[in-house]
Amino acid sequence: MPVPVSSSFLWGAATSPHQVEGNNTASDLWAIENMAGSPLPERSGDACDSYHRWREDLDILRDLGLNAYRFGIEWARVEPAPGHVSRAALDHYRRMIEGCLERGVTPVVTLHHFTSPAWFRHGGGWTGPDAIRQFTGYVRAVRPILDGVPWVCTINEPNMLAMVAARLHSGAPNLVAGALPPPDQRVAEALIAAHHAARGELDAVASGWTIANQTFQAVPGAQEHAEQWAWAREDQFIDAARDDDFIGVQAYTRVVIGPDGPVPADPAARRTQIGWEFYPGALEAAVRHTASRISVPILVTENGIATADDDERREYTHQALAGLGRAVADGLDVRGYLHWSLLDNYEWGSWAHTFGLVAVDRQTFRRTVKPSARWYGELARAGVLPGAC
Ligand code: BGC
Repeated sequence: MPVPVSSSFLWGAATSPHQVEGNNTASDLWAIENMAGSPLPERSGDACDSYHRWREDLDILRDLGLNAYRFGIEWARVEPAPGHVSRAALDHYRRMIEGCLERGVTPVVTLHHFTSPAWFRHGGGWTGPDAIRQFTGYVRAVRPILDGVPWVCTINEPNMLAMVAARLHSGAPNLVAGALPPPDQRVAEALIAAHHAARGELDAVASGWTIANQTFQAVPGAQEHAEQWAWAREDQFIDAARDDDFIGVQAYTRVVIGPDGPVPADPAARRTQIGWEFYPGALEAAVRHTASRISVPILVTENGIATADDDERREYTHQALAGLGRAVADGLDVRGYLHWSLLDNYEWGSWAHTFGLVAVDRQTFRRTVKPSARWYGELARAGVLPGAC
């Protein structure tokens, strides 16, 4: 059954600075991408040149009929050297916020989306002696430009950050391929402390953080094991948001857990470009799981599919939104849905995985709206989550 949503429901799309802006040269990941023998197969380079083309991106989003844009502020641009805040970078991001408001688009702003300044990493990263003070210093510098922003996400996917940190500490040669280890618990706790401290700096601005929901499902008999997996990798981060103004839910696929850990999907299972199982039910499961642990408003801050087949994007999104509609019909407090991603962008080491509603020519940066984007925009204009297809 189609489910109408309130007129304040956010229908939008998301990006992150490093993945779309281009030339994020003071960041830690830029250094990794460009070092000799980099573990990342491709560089971000000019990315989508959204640092200069953001007005065009916003016009596209508004013309589709969407009313919200999630984008990020890049710490490495705002504070390229410790304690040295770039007024020009802050002005840039303030212009983006005002550009949203002028177009009737609600800005949803992320303060940290995976990348940090290179100097922060050199100083020990999240477990360095000054990490919390350094992060809150950055948040304090940004706070004055956030007036009028109703949704601020402090840190994106802290659970993924803590898992990637564990992988780096293990000396693994590759950042991205293969199953991730459990989070580095010191990093997890530092991120939770940083999030709470950042919220303290944001005072009247409504804030939360965004969690990678992995939809852990137990095979019969492995329930307790799956709960342990979920606690370390997801639930401790959800629980840390119990006093927040909202929580961001991000879901793409599921992980089935047996007594010995993850059970690989059937070799015949349908997969996305990234190799993840095609599982649009992840969104409904993630929203219900989050609501079962804490009682704060939910904003879907990411959901989407890496595919070269735009019909498949529409199919996946339709099924995911139908599941979201079931959760809303059951009374869950869901305030909006932000599709990942507005643009085909830099997927952390690769340009081959295309999540975008809009294609971007790698030479000219020309944007081309895909049919799935127009279909999604029509749903937004109608204000109705679709029934199952
Ligand atoms: C991240 C995005 C990423 C997406 C698809 C999320 O983990 O927040 O930056 O591109 O998933 O992998």
